[in-house]
Amino acid sequence: QTVEAHELMKVFVTRRISPEAMKILTTAGVCEVSLWDSEEPAPRSELLKGVQGAHGILCMLSDEIDAEVLDAAGPNLKVISTLSVGYDHLALDEVKKRGIRVGYTPDVLTDATAELTVALLLATARRIPEGLEEVKNGGWSSWKPFWLCGNGLSGSTVGIIGLGRIGMAISRRLMPFGVKRLLYSGRTAKPHATEVNGEFVPLDTLITESDFIVVSCSLTPETQGLCDKAFFSKMKNTAVFVNSSRGAVVNQEDLYEALSSGQIAAAGLDVTTPEPLPTNHPLLTLKNCVVLPHIGSATYSTRRTMLALAVRNLLGGVQGTEMPSELAL
Ligand code: NDP
Ligand code: DGY
Repeated sequence: QTVEAHELMKVFVTRRISPEAMKILTTAGVCEVSLWDSEEPAPRSELLKGVQGAHGILCMLSDEIDAEVLDAAGPNLKVISTLSVGYDHLALDEVKKRGIRVGYTPDVLTDATAELTVALLLATARRIPEGLEEVKNGGWSSWKPFWLCGNGLSGSTVGIIGLGRIGMAISRRLMPFGVKRLLYSGRTAKPHATEVNGEFVPLDTLITESDFIVVSCSLTPETQGLCDKAFFSKMKNTAVFVNSSRGAVVNQEDLYEALSSGQIAAAGLDVTTPEPLPTNHPLLTLKNCVVLPHIGSATYSTRRTMLALAVRNLLGGVQGTEMPSELAL
């Protein structure tokens, strides 16, 4: 069936996407697609230009979708589909006010993100990047009883901040390492925590009793800056801190202080503020801080699945039909 050009919905895609995802989008025959055809983010001015008159926007987590962008898009805008499960880059109050629907990508990235978080935890606790460096720089002189020792998971207490989809998937993966107690904190106790013998505890208990703290909550006004000086000062000196949620949950100056003073043993971060973290950032001078470039969901199949889901969300939104993963606003 031929769709007249004037009936086509205008969509703007803020980054180059896979040919497979483009195919789903174009073969649906309902959209006129324009995209920022680059691996790098569109400059703000191009984003503001690109969204003009759009019925739908497919964006990345690095695109700040605020009132200015929504105003630039104008009254046609029906849907924002983000290629992420996190939606802290969307001004939801403004989105809601304008009656715009939001699509996101929960579940499909849970396993990949949990896997990477466990890898980061182990790499940080067992000092793997430091070891690699020593092999390359000649620092490996012989086997020594306490050289490059860290702390292991066996018999440990792990604290998960935010036992949601990803927090739960991390817990399931950690328990077989011989974790003795799994504590978690959040707004509400989770019935599914029984599967990992999770104990719902006040945040302070989690901080003081954990050997490993993993942050896997969403970024909200409540969690912004949650891990600050007071937080780190309550942690054990031997404890390891891992964050795979959002950089803004952490006060990075306070983290630097805690790491450099020996207040805590080590930190592994998959997320930072800003992203990318400038190469001269103080955290990058520390041997006990492992920083990854936000690669939690970065497996080929996960990213393909996320893209297909984001495109389907976009198509549902512009047509006013069901979206496979619509955020309840
Ligand atoms: P969920 O919504 O399933 O889980 C989020 C959890 O955060 C919920 O359990 C919620 O608990 C908890 N939470 C909210 N407020 C607080 C609080 N004040 N204290 C403690 N916990 C709180 O989301 P996902 O597990 O799917 O994703 C979580 C986050 O992970 C995303 O929002 C995103 O920021 C990040 N992420 C990072 C990736 C990476 O590449 N590093 C990849 C994918 C996601 P409650 O229900 O009690 O409110
Ligand atoms: C998300 O989805 O929120 C991640 O940060 C990237 O996959």
